[in-house]
Amino acid sequence: MYTFTNKLGLSSLILLHLISSLTSNAQLILPSPNGTYAVGHSVAKMVDESRVDPYDPKEGKRALMMSLFYPVERKACEETCQIDWMSPVTASYGGQLAVAYNISDAIFQNIKFPVCCKYSDEAAETVPSFPLVLFSPGLGGSRQMYNAMASSLASSGYAVATIDVPYDSFVVEFPDGSLIPGKNLSYWDGSFSVMKKLLDTRVDDGRFVLSQLGNTSVVQELVPGASCGFFTKRAGFFGHSYGGATALAALMKDRRFVGGIDMDGSLWGNITDIHQAGVIFNTPMHNFTQDPSLQEGWDHMKGWRRELTLNDTVHLTFSDIPLLVKSLGVPINDTVRGIIGGLDPDRSFSIITTFVRAVMDYALQGKDNAILDGNTAAYPEVEVNS
Ligand SMILES: *[C@@H]1O[C@H](CO)[C@@H](O)[C@H](O)[C@H]1NC(C)=O
Ligand SMILES: *[C@@H]1O[C@H](CO)[C@@H](O)[C@H](O)[C@H]1NC(C)=O
Ligand SMILES: *[C@@H]1O[C@H](CO)[C@@H](O)[C@H](O)[C@H]1NC(C)=O
Ligand SMILES: *[C@@H]1O[C@H](CO)[C@@H](O)[C@H](O)[C@H]1NC(C)=O
Ligand SMILES: *[C@@H]1O[C@H](CO)[C@@H](O)[C@H](O)[C@H]1NC(C)=O
Ligand SMILES: *[C@@H]1O[C@H](CO)[C@@H](O)[C@H](O)[C@H]1NC(C)=O
Ligand SMILES: *[C@@H]1O[C@H](CO)[C@@H](O)[C@H](O)[C@H]1NC(C)=O
Ligand SMILES: *[C@@H]1O[C@H](CO)[C@@H](O)[C@H](O)[C@H]1NC(C)=O
Repeated sequence: MYTFTNKLGLSSLILLHLISSLTSNAQLILPSPNGTYAVGHSVAKMVDESRVDPYDPKEGKRALMMSLFYPVERKACEETCQIDWMSPVTASYGGQLAVAYNISDAIFQNIKFPVCCKYSDEAAETVPSFPLVLFSPGLGGSRQMYNAMASSLASSGYAVATIDVPYDSFVVEFPDGSLIPGKNLSYWDGSFSVMKKLLDTRVDDGRFVLSQLGNTSVVQELVPGASCGFFTKRAGFFGHSYGGATALAALMKDRRFVGGIDMDGSLWGNITDIHQAGVIFNTPMHNFTQDPSLQEGWDHMKGWRRELTLNDTVHLTFSDIPLLVKSLGVPINDTVRGIIGGLDPDRSFSIITTFVRAVMDYALQGKDNAILDGNTAAYPEVEVNS
């Protein structure tokens, strides 16, 4: 199966090597998202009292970490702060993957991204009026590997909640400093029962986070001064790789998700009908012939559907990694292209976030966008099928 040669795994390790050959200890600051809004950011631990964590040897309640990125009117933003792209402990776990390759485990430590950290009371009050979109990371990945992508979508007017997957994400770091390191990737062996259990857990995590974000006091913890909870009867869900499978599986199970995007993930588990807006957003190597699970998912999409293929990309193009590589000034040769794809990272990032936004605009707000209806001149790199 496709996904299992393309897990977080090897290509990222090679990438770390490339990055390490160029980094000094100078701090890297990722570009500011340039949409209509500035972006606020907060993180929270959420505990689902109704579920025992199926992976916790002590059978505790399922607890996870999430990040919320939310729009703030630019003129209401009083201060911008540079915060860690990846928190130090998570970065060191990510870095440990690199130690086997004789690379410093500090490799992810000095990367920052800008957020609006002080804003008017009026801006805080209105945060819950923005539509909500959830995001799920790839197998073994951390939600923080997609911070720039989430921030970009927030800048265009969505509240975006990215969700870690305890025991699957390479580490989940809680506010009290406690950690849940991910299981060895080989634990996720591709068998139906192992993958279905993980998929069901991820889907339940997403449904739980959605419900929590409808709760006023939960949202006020995340955004002090917010007037109420988010509107959770119409939300979007997108994800990368196994997180993409998670997003579409969530649509199969919960009609509050009115639109979902699978970014380059095979589908798993019991594939059933999707009546909401569903999108498969792929690299050229990943298609219905080569991956029958996609054909099966497509055949079950009974509502509005699109297959988008982004030319000259690879699996990790659908993450922040290409942007990191470009911002670090890594010379882009064939080896690097094999890891991040051939498109210029600014271009691939801009196309991916533009199409994600267009799909959410359509699914959540009924706004049409010609780019979803055909091969428009502005985006020759994207092939659209319906
Ligand atoms: C490509 O660039 C990377 C990083 O600069 C370097 O380590 C690698 O050797 C280069 N590969 C080729 C084939 O030139
Ligand atoms: C790491 O460094 C050691 C000592 O220099 C060397 O023996 C080993 O081959 C290196 N490993 C890799 C993966 O480069
Ligand atoms: C993960 O599992 C593989 C295969 O069983 C093994 O070779 C590897 O050492 C394990 N890694 C860790 C960190 O335990
Ligand atoms: C909202 O969340 C708070 C704090 O977690 C909790 O005490 C309260 O019962 C929740 N309200 C509802 C309606 O679920
Ligand atoms: C898959 O879903 C269908 C329809 O809901 C159901 O009839 C079937 O039993 C499910 N199969 C498994 C293996 O869960
Ligand atoms: C599907 O992808 C495979 C490689 O993964 C490729 O060989 C094949 O030509 C592709 N098919 C189509 C219709 O693009
Ligand atoms: C916003 O940033 C993207 C890259 O992420 C770039 O392609 C686009 O041109 C920028 N737009 C403006 C208005 O600067
Ligand atoms: C697709 O990418 C290839 C390079 O891999 C390029 O030669 C070709 O022109 C691109 N096609 C489009 C439509 O952008």
